[in-house]
This record gives sequence, structure tokens and C-alpha cells, in this order.
Amino acid sequence: MSASWLKNAVFYEIYPQSFKDTNGDGIGDFNGIIEKLPYIKSLGCNAIWMNPCYDSPFKDAGYDVRDHKKVAERYGTEEDLVRLFEEAHKLGIKILLDLVPGHTSEQHPWFIESAKAEENEYSDRYIWTSNAFCGGDGMPFIGGEHERDATYVINFFKCQPALNFGYRDIHDAGWQQPIDAPGPLANREAMKDIMRYWLNKGCDGFRVDMADSLVKNDHGYKSATMEVWKDIAGAIHAEYPEAALVSEWNHPEQSLACGFDMDFMLDWGGNGYNRLMRFYQLDKKGQIIEDNSYFKLESDADISGFLKDYPYEEWKDLGLRCLITCNHDTKRPSFNLTDAERRLAYAFIYTMPGAPFLYYGDEIGMAYRWLPTKEGGYHRTGSRTPMQWDNGKNLGFSDGNAQDLYLPVDPNPMGTTVESQEADPNSMLHHVRSLIALRQSHEALGNYSPFAVYQIGKRLFGYKRGDYLVAVNPGKEAEAMKLDGKYEAVFTMGDVALAEETVKLESQSFMVLKPAE
Ligand code: GLC
Ligand code: CA
Repeated sequence: MSASWLKNAVFYEIYPQSFKDTNGDGIGDFNGIIEKLPYIKSLGCNAIWMNPCYDSPFKDAGYDVRDHKKVAERYGTEEDLVRLFEEAHKLGIKILLDLVPGHTSEQHPWFIESAKAEENEYSDRYIWTSNAFCGGDGMPFIGGEHERDATYVINFFKCQPALNFGYRDIHDAGWQQPIDAPGPLANREAMKDIMRYWLNKGCDGFRVDMADSLVKNDHGYKSATMEVWKDIAGAIHAEYPEAALVSEWNHPEQSLACGFDMDFMLDWGGNGYNRLMRFYQLDKKGQIIEDNSYFKLESDADISGFLKDYPYEEWKDLGLRCLITCNHDTKRPSFNLTDAERRLAYAFIYTMPGAPFLYYGDEIGMAYRWLPTKEGGYHRTGSRTPMQWDNGKNLGFSDGNAQDLYLPVDPNPMGTTVESQEADPNSMLHHVRSLIALRQSHEALGNYSPFAVYQIGKRLFGYKRGDYLVAVNPGKEAEAMKLDGKYEAVFTMGDVALAEETVKLESQSFMVLKPAE
């Protein structure tokens, strides 16, 4: 059984560097998040996922953890973080921290010890090969950097050596260890220990980074990685039944079956989720040359491209599949979708099952911006810019000097500030609020409520949520949908006409129907 609060959890993702700076050093901090909790609550969100906030050299924005039990000084102190948990809880908001189990920073004391020539307690905590001239068996590896006569496998960037959770298919027993060898077992215990540490401080669970990456040579079904998670998640859930775990995995049939409460749909490898909002091709300069995303007005796609990777029936009793507006790794929806297209996409996200995630700033339509890379962001940097609070200095993000900001604020925000949008009843901000309120006030639209495909039209998609009927038409032409009973409208966007036996949806429209009394 998952944490009870997940039943109606609606998440807000915060990239802490860029949310709100309260001491003028140009970088967001815990106190800034505390200050803005009432805003998050005003959106209707009741849960937060915050990207890593631990001590780090920040070569990958903090996903290169140097000390799991120490907060990064730039965000404040551990007391500040604990106060953030407490203040959030007072407002009924839960907070997930980001757990990075697959790798650490190359500056982590465990790694520094394991890189020593002399054998020690940490020697087997990372994946070291037989000698300094040995390859990584298909995994990227680094050699020639340390006194230990071996190369080591990395999980992502060069700065992120892979922690050793063992191998499923062992090709070279000289250095590849089984998942129950002492080093891999010690890493499992270390992860449980870190999770307990923060849960005891008051966090409500974790978003788990690259959760599917732990065991190597575990291709296909990921059975060995699942075994590791059954152990870790099982222990944590037994001790903390109200803790929630969401995996960066994108295979709910695996992740939800091994102890995660939720799994993200991710924009990996042209999958169905991409087809909703990010099915475009770019030229060398990053300009869009073709975009056949379902929510583009000009697209000819029907919803089946998305549904092929959304086999809801297969995991409906297991947990939640989470749809995101975007995250810190993807381009913002405003990169390729117009305001009208995004409004429909969000209407869809907030009427689908699974806990929905809103990335900070998407509620005001913040722009994706082409910027030089920051902290290993590369193309992701443009989605990590300072939150646009008001129309004053640094758009209300910081009192510091413009040149000291973590990233420059948008020089041309064109109304995409909270202040401007609060004042405009037709703004994206109010639209997102009304969608979250809609979801929160109708149980049929809730996280675990049943979902079924009702009608796949040329562009129109009709779906059932319990006994409710929802329809979206992102296309140019009007489409009609036959009704299977008597309904009344509870929410509409654009031109829709509800008659006795049919409903007609004009171009770019949406409606939610409930059974008529
Ligand atoms: C995940 C994170 C990403 C990070 C990577 C390595 O994909 O979301 O930001 O760079 O893992 O930890
Ligand atoms: Ca600060």
C-alpha cells in the first residue's frame, strides 16, 4: 500500500538554484522556497519535488553528490531545510527530496577511498576493472586518473562514477561482482541509511534519479535491478509507510512492481509520451523543422502514438504513472507549443490518472531560452532560469546584482511573471489553477480513479474517468463524439456543444462531462 497522501497529490517541481533568492547572492535558497510556499499552495499543489540540495561540486547541478547528509551551503543550513519541511507540512504540503543512488561525485569521500591502491572498506563500492588498461564491458569508463591499477565505470558524466550494485550477466568474473557481493550489499545499506536520515528529518520521500541504472548488464526486464529495489524500497516502506517513492525509470511494469509508488513518463527515445508535446525535429541551430506533437494544431497525429506506451490496464492496481509538464532535463513546453496548445495539453495532464507534476514556471508559460551551459546543463540550461515573480528588479527572483545571478533572468518576459498573470483573469496561471481545482474537486478525476479509452477520432480523444467522460480536440476541424448516456458539462474550453446524444468539439476545445442527475 502506498502513502495515503498520494491519493490526491498534485506536485510542483522546484529547481532550487532558480526559485527564490533571499540573501542576495544570486542563487535560490531554502528560505526562498519557504517564502513561496503559500504561492505553491495557491496553485492547488500539495506536494513538492525538489532537485538535489546536497553538498556537491555542481558539475551536474548537484546530481554529483559529495556528501549525502550535508546540505549545500548555497541553499542554507540543515536547520533551514528542516524548517522548510515543517512550514510545508503546516500548509499541508509534502516534500520529496532527490535521491541519487546510481553514482556519486568523484569528490565523494567513498570514491576517494576506493581509488586508493591499498585495499580498504570502499574498494568494492564502485565498479573498478581488473587493471588500468581494461575496458568497461560496454559501459563508459575512465582510466589513468588514480593510483589504483584499474579503470572505473561511470554512470553519466565523467564526474559521476557508478556505485557498485553488482552485475546480472557476469562477463568477466575478475571484476564484475554478483548483486549480493559485499560491496553491492554495502551500497544498498548505505542508500537505506541516507533515506532514513532525511525521512527522520521530516521529508516525505524521494524522487529517485536513474533508478533503473543500478545493476549493470541487466538488460531487458531489469530483473536484478528490481531485486535490489525490492530490498531497498521494501525496507523503507516497512519503516515509513507514509513515505513516497517516485522513480525515474519509465517502465511502470518494472518500477511499480519492485516497490515504487509512482513512475515518471519520460521523454526518452521517441516514446509515446514524447508524442504528446515533444515530437519535433531540430536543425543544427536548434530551430524546429518539423513538429508532429499531438497537441500541435497543425499536427495530423491521433492519440494512439501516446497510448501505445500507456498500457494502463497492465499496471492499474500497482501504482501511479506520472505525467509532467516538463522537468529540469527537457525543453519547456513553450519552446514548441503556443499558448492555446499548452492550455489543452495541461487540461489533458490534469484530467489523466497518476500524480501530475508541474515544473516551476510552466504555470506562467516561462520561455525556454538558448543560454551557455551552466553546471553541466548544456541544452537543459534554458529550462533552468530564474522564476519570474514580478516586474521589478531581477523579476523578483533576487535583490542581488544582475551579473551575480545563477542564470540571467529573461530580458523580455512579455507578461510571463506571476505578478502580471495574477492580475489577468485569462492568464495561463489562472488556467492552471482552475485545472488543478477541477481535478481536486471531482474524485473521478483523481490519481487512482479508473481510466479507459472511449473514442479515438481523427484528432479528438475521448476518455472515461470513472463515470465521467472527458474529450479533447487539439485539431483544426470540429469533431463529434457519441454519448453513452446523459451527461452535463462540468468544465469546458473553447467551443463545445452538448446535445442529447452527441457532443461536438470545435477546433482546440476540451470538455469534462459528468453523468446528469
Ligand atoms: C537524471 C537527472 C539529470 C541528471 C542525471 C544524472 O536524468 O534528472 O538531471 O543529469 O540523472 O544524475
Ligand atoms: Ca541565496
